[in-house]
Amino acid sequence: MSKVISLLLLVASAVPLIFAQVPGLGSCPSNVQVQSNFQLPDFLGQWYEYERYPFVFEAGGKCTYARYASLPNGTVSVYNFNINSITNRKSDISGTAKVVAPAKLLVRFSGMPDFVSGSNYWVLGTDYSSYAVVYSCTDFYNIFNTKVIWVLTRERKPSESVISQARQVIDDNKLSKRFLLKTNQDNCPAS
Ligand SMILES: *[C@@H]1O[C@H](CO)[C@@H](O)[C@H](O)[C@H]1NC(C)=O
Repeated sequence: MSKVISLLLLVASAVPLIFAQVPGLGSCPSNVQVQSNFQLPDFLGQWYEYERYPFVFEAGGKCTYARYASLPNGTVSVYNFNINSITNRKSDISGTAKVVAPAKLLVRFSGMPDFVSGSNYWVLGTDYSSYAVVYSCTDFYNIFNTKVIWVLTRERKPSESVISQARQVIDDNKLSKRFLLKTNQDNCPAS
């Protein structure tokens, strides 16, 4: 009996992790296009999270932003910040990203176990000055995949026309907008 209970507890505790990303059947789609002629230096700097597919680090987070800077060894430093919506506590996480192909990065956060190579971070489209659409898809043995999409904006409160340009990128890649969740950027500390 206690074995059944432990199993149920294990399953229950794993569910939020799995559903924190959007699952799909089969492998990651192969027809996703990244930003052509991607210019990493123009992409660096600060981005606010406008909306996203659910993602575990940011679950329940508000005032979320990311900062990217180039490091002397050719990698990119990653700094993510948010405020817990429930406890109001600030939280942040740092990592580094390696450019593996144009507009395709591999991000590793500190504390990730060594056997984890990192998360895919693909810039599907950006104008560098107002919006960026970032996509991450992970394959699990070609049986299922999990996807995360972030719509990032240079301004904390972007205009509707900026957002429609970003959404066009998602449509062009035949990815669903259904799971996008708007990030609360109200009453945030200056940053
Ligand atoms: C590049 O430098 C950063 C910061 O010093 C370090 O964390 C990272 O591991 C380095 N990456 C490589 C591939 O050398």
